[in-house]
Amino acid sequence: MSQLSRLPPPGRLPMVQARTMVPFRASSKLLLFVIWCSSLALHTVAQQVAAAAYAPKLSSCPAGTSLVRLTGKYAQSLSRQESAFIREKRERVLPEAWSSYLHNVQRAASRQRVKVPLYVSAILSDHLRSPHLAIATSGGGHRAAIFGAGVMTALDGRNATSANEGTGGLLQASSYLSSLSGGAWLVSSLAQADFPTFPELIFGSSKTGSEGWLTKFDLLQPSSDPQTVLAFIGGLIAELAGKAFAGIPVTFADVWARTLSRHFVHGTTASNFFDPNVTHGAGPTFSGISELPSFVSRRIPLPIVLADSITDLNVGTPVFFNQSEDIIPLTNPIYEFTPYEMGSFDPMLSAFTPTKFLGSPNTSVCMTGFDQVSYIESVSSNLFNEFNTSSDALASSPIGPIISALQVTFPHPGMQLDAAMVPNAFFGVGDGTYPDANHKFLRLVDGGEDGQVLPLQPLLVKARKIDTIIGIDAPADTDENFTAGFSLIASQQRASLFPGVYPFPPVPKTIEEFAAHNLTKRPTFFGCESPSNVPLLIYIANGGAPLGQSPLTNTPTAQTTYQPEQIQAMLNQVHDIATQGIPVRKHGKETKDPLWPVCLACAVVEKQRAKIGARRSGVCRSCLERYCWS
Ligand SMILES: *[C@@H]1O[C@H](CO)[C@@H](O)[C@H](O)[C@H]1NC(C)=O
Ligand SMILES: *[C@@H]1O[C@H](CO)[C@@H](O)[C@H](O)[C@H]1NC(C)=O
Ligand SMILES: *[C@@H]1O[C@H](CO)[C@@H](O)[C@H](O)[C@H]1NC(C)=O
Ligand SMILES: *[C@@H]1O[C@H](CO)[C@@H](O)[C@H](O)[C@H]1NC(C)=O
Ligand SMILES: *[C@@H]1O[C@H](CO)[C@@H](O)[C@H](O)[C@H]1NC(C)=O
Ligand SMILES: *[C@@H]1O[C@H](CO)[C@@H](O)[C@H](O)[C@H]1NC(C)=O
Repeated sequence: MSQLSRLPPPGRLPMVQARTMVPFRASSKLLLFVIWCSSLALHTVAQQVAAAAYAPKLSSCPAGTSLVRLTGKYAQSLSRQESAFIREKRERVLPEAWSSYLHNVQRAASRQRVKVPLYVSAILSDHLRSPHLAIATSGGGHRAAIFGAGVMTALDGRNATSANEGTGGLLQASSYLSSLSGGAWLVSSLAQADFPTFPELIFGSSKTGSEGWLTKFDLLQPSSDPQTVLAFIGGLIAELAGKAFAGIPVTFADVWARTLSRHFVHGTTASNFFDPNVTHGAGPTFSGISELPSFVSRRIPLPIVLADSITDLNVGTPVFFNQSEDIIPLTNPIYEFTPYEMGSFDPMLSAFTPTKFLGSPNTSVCMTGFDQVSYIESVSSNLFNEFNTSSDALASSPIGPIISALQVTFPHPGMQLDAAMVPNAFFGVGDGTYPDANHKFLRLVDGGEDGQVLPLQPLLVKARKIDTIIGIDAPADTDENFTAGFSLIASQQRASLFPGVYPFPPVPKTIEEFAAHNLTKRPTFFGCESPSNVPLLIYIANGGAPLGQSPLTNTPTAQTTYQPEQIQAMLNQVHDIATQGIPVRKHGKETKDPLWPVCLACAVVEKQRAKIGARRSGVCRSCLERYCWS
């Protein structure tokens, strides 16, 4: 250990790109670190409870196990479990959820002396006609996780303020909650914690014994003491030993999983943060979420996490034009994880495998424990391939030392160490155009690397019949780290590359157009005049500070340390962003739109209104004129 003190302290490197996180400083004393990590890993396995808990296990598959479900290419089908989840949610949860949401809206409307049009209450009271609502929450590191939590608090019927203001209740009425990257940290930590309220999730609660996200510890540099940091990183690597010795390639994504686990999976506290004799969230699986009470009772929306794929076939295909980090072609398959299944509805694949058995070699021997919550969080936010560490620039890249340590400690030739290597259940599957068909391993990376930082993709799948989407978008597109609308432009482009597959509402073609109409600075409805099969998108972006306040919600993506007070101040501001609507002028002064909660309800029922042939009327007519973009 004494040589360690001679290593230079890790520090911050300049960012490679605006939206990426900066990890660990390349060190000239790399070799020392590498050797030390490998000996640590090899000698501490026996007593490493986390290494054992992180290791997947092989056992005989249950009778009748199938590792590939073909969804059908044109008339796609949902899995039996997902269909049951949605059916049961509609029967057992939504009637009550919609009725209490309606109650909140009516109360807010009567305070403003307006009448909620009859068709709105009729649709929300009829459980056969109520909308199929979904929420998507974007990537963008901690900033996006906090922004998403803030907006969803405003939609959360359990929060008395939000219920009283008339926006609360939509979270309970949502069937799906899709996420990627920083948004996936939020959604998966919410689901594994059994759907607590957001303040409980973030700051902890004595009720659950959780201390929350522990954001005062940085992700890769949790101490100001360089030796503690090196020991910490070495410890993360040592925790991969069980997985590696089980013959599974470990990559930087596993290191990343082990640190995310300390923040976004239950099991770490401030006092045991550096204790090696704790599992630190190793063990709990994404499929295991399906056994938690909030999931079994269908109270939580079905969580979905996205990842992009590096493939060889599409190299040279045009990528989205936005920024240098958008390096994955829009034509590459997009994979999704739910507690039930992992795979893709993209027509080239149209297949899924059980999440629980990810990594299984065949239908007689099944692997469990590969789909750890921490690993899924990592796969979705694994943007480290942007550093090009598999090329010659390896040693000097910001994660170079960790990659080298992995190479020496757990050699597994032929692996791409800056991607998540996931055994490919779809080897040989697909229609001949599926570009991962002849890869034994999928190489998965951050779900936003194709430019679609708002995870709308799974919500456009026709089999899911979603007609209203609330999109919460917080990537750092501008120099001030605010959102400019690139995500929607990228999604519009991708939808046009799959004609007839993904119905998508018209959105502006340029960020200048977003800016000219303030579309990221106020809630905007897209698709108000679209045909009935096209979902209506309620877009709430992190486009600027709310009325009369100085901005707090535009922290850099690379900031991975926060004091609780800063998060609280951001959440308060997000509450205003989510509830101000388009400010109105009253007595010469701009104020929140007092009708925003009613306008939101008008948007939520709009597709159903069109389906039953009712006329837009009353307050809803002026609301949609104001909030719809066309
Ligand atoms: C309800 O939401 C408000 C506004 O975001 C927040 O200040 C408050 O802490 C929340 N209350 C609870 C009990 O979660
Ligand atoms: C680790 O913790 C367990 C109980 O949680 C204890 O029995 C064991 O002695 C501890 N091991 C070390 C090396 O501290
Ligand atoms: C299934 O995989 C296991 C472990 O890799 C292997 O030992 C076994 O031979 C395989 N069985 C079949 C039927 O391929
Ligand atoms: C990574 O490498 C590829 C091919 O070598 C190159 O085209 C690309 O610009 C590089 N990206 C970055 C961010 O350096
Ligand atoms: C956009 O917002 C600015 C200031 O917030 C305002 O002055 C301007 O009129 C708005 N533009 C439109 C088209 O609403
Ligand atoms: C935005 O983020 C960049 C780093 O990505 C940082 O240098 C800059 O200071 C941030 N701007 C603001 C206004 O916070």
